[in-house]
Amino acid sequence: MMIKRLKVKNWRNFRELDVPLRERQFVVGANASGKSNLLDIFRFLRDIVKAEGGGLQKAVKDRGGVSKIRCLAARQYPEIEIHLADNAESPETWRYAIGIKQQPRGYRQPFLTHERVWKDGKQILNRPDADDAEDQQRLTQTFLEQINVNANFRDIVHFLQNITYLHLVPQLLRFADSIQGRVVEDDPFGQGFLERIATVQERTRRSRLQKIEQALKIAVPQLEQLVFIRDEITGRPHLQALYSHWRPNVGLQREDQFSDGTLRLLGLLWSLLESDSVLLLEEPELSLNAGIVSQLAPFISRMQRSRRPQVFVSTHSDALLTEKGIDGGEVLLLTPAMLFRLKFSNILALKS
Ligand SMILES: Nc1ncnc2c1ncn2[C@@H]1O[C@H](COP(=O)(O)OP(=O)(O)OP(=O)(O)O)[C@@H](O)[C@H]1O
Ligand SMILES: [Mg+2]
Repeated sequence: MMIKRLKVKNWRNFRELDVPLRERQFVVGANASGKSNLLDIFRFLRDIVKAEGGGLQKAVKDRGGVSKIRCLAARQYPEIEIHLADNAESPETWRYAIGIKQQPRGYRQPFLTHERVWKDGKQILNRPDADDAEDQQRLTQTFLEQINVNANFRDIVHFLQNITYLHLVPQLLRFADSIQGRVVEDDPFGQGFLERIATVQERTRRSRLQKIEQALKIAVPQLEQLVFIRDEITGRPHLQALYSHWRPNVGLQREDQFSDGTLRLLGLLWSLLESDSVLLLEEPELSLNAGIVSQLAPFISRMQRSRRPQVFVSTHSDALLTEKGIDGGEVLLLTPAMLFRLKFSNILALKS
């Protein structure tokens, strides 16, 4: 399944946005043009449906309240609508829409102005309904987050639950043991990433690591073998690589000795192999050389052939967009004041 169209009103710096989306979608634009804000819309929906500690209240609170997600330029409140389909060619199967407001008095909790679901073009949920009118407190929760009322559209819930945001910070991963901080499970910035690898079945893990090893060798030719281990004393998961250019038996290194680029590429490749929903990649080009970065786009499409995750990539990198196969519709250019789609050649012209 994929998100075929996104409609947003009054979300952070977007007053109004209505865009078709592709299976591989690059989001480009200057600093502060809204790339992260755009990706955060999908994380926000994921946070609502999170099996543990999810829900509308938490998702809004984590973002600093309605006043922070509401567009400062607008008097109206945020609205989000997504259209889902099995793939790029197939017709829309699901549509989900919500609007969020803040109670004017009392606890000033976020509440829903509406929540609507369509299946195959037919509306199957339209809130506020009669029960909501009787008990306004019901509007502080979406049906999406309540399993006792969302049986008819559980497919949307599962799809959103699997959205992954990857912004791997090598330092957090490298010093996972000494930081001993909170593991961010849903958004693997660092420590959560190793735990994620640890929870996968051994056979799957080995086959994924082999594929990653092959791809990594292009970037780091001295790397010979990549294996997963658990520290015998602490029980913590680790990745270990064998490098060919050191003396025999001393060439084994753990992830805390990998380079930033190796770690980021590793995280990126693992996430591409793991995801079967939506993968949000925040500036994957960081700490990678241009030669490798130019390989990322074709690599994403190769992965999509077997697993078909939808991949959103925010980027500042021209090298990432040099692949001939990228067409105009796959590049979404954000500008602070406006938003439009351009052919890639136009973007290059604009930058030069
Ligand atoms: N509620 C809001 N209303 C209006 N603008 C907002 C709101 N919240 C954040 N912004 C603006 O959004 C901009 C930041 O957007 P974002 O972080 O998505 O940029 P970006 O394209 O990811 O930039 P970078 O390339 O630097 O990462 C800031 O200028 C900020 O002022
Ligand atoms: Mg950003």
